[in-house]
Amino acid sequence: QNLQSPYEALGGAKEIEALVDTFYSYVSQHPDLIPIFPSDLTETARKQKQFLTQYFGGPPLYTSEHGHPMLRARHLPFTITPKRRDAWLSCMHHALDDRGIEGPLRDFIWDRLRLTAEHMTNSPDEMS
Ligand code: HEM
Repeated sequence: QNLQSPYEALGGAKEIEALVDTFYSYVSQHPDLIPIFPSDLTETARKQKQFLTQYFGGPPLYTSEHGHPMLRARHLPFTITPKRRDAWLSCMHHALDDRGIEGPLRDFIWDRLRLTAEHMTNSPDEMS
């Protein structure tokens, strides 16, 4: 049995760590995201590393510490509009570029994140 998980194909803990840190460096500078994220992203990044580890087939780090992810429920306190969803995805897109994650692995990861981001959207864009 030599099927690799996406987590292993990425390069395991080291790459998840680098990807998530790169991602939050973009989040911390994005005008649409700054209003809903804490200014200190240390704990947010730690939880996201745990979550993405298990989401991509690594050890269940998030669930061991926090229980069932219930991601949509955990996002309900925040107003997530289509504009913020796209901002989140653009930060992730840049992070995947910076980390040189390409090809079928990137396509797989991107599809999963895009669908989950869609699922987190809980509010319409403001009228203007
Ligand atoms: C937490 C925003 C999509 C995974 C959070 C927090 C915010 C947020 C504001 C709370 C940060 C904190 O207080 O520390 C967003 C926005 C998204 C989005 C605007 C755009 C659609 C996603 C997606 C995933 C995800 C697609 C997973 C693939 C998480 C996790 C946490 C989190 C694991 C930590 C939950 C906890 O407190 O245990 N997100 N998020 N988010 N987000 Fe998102």
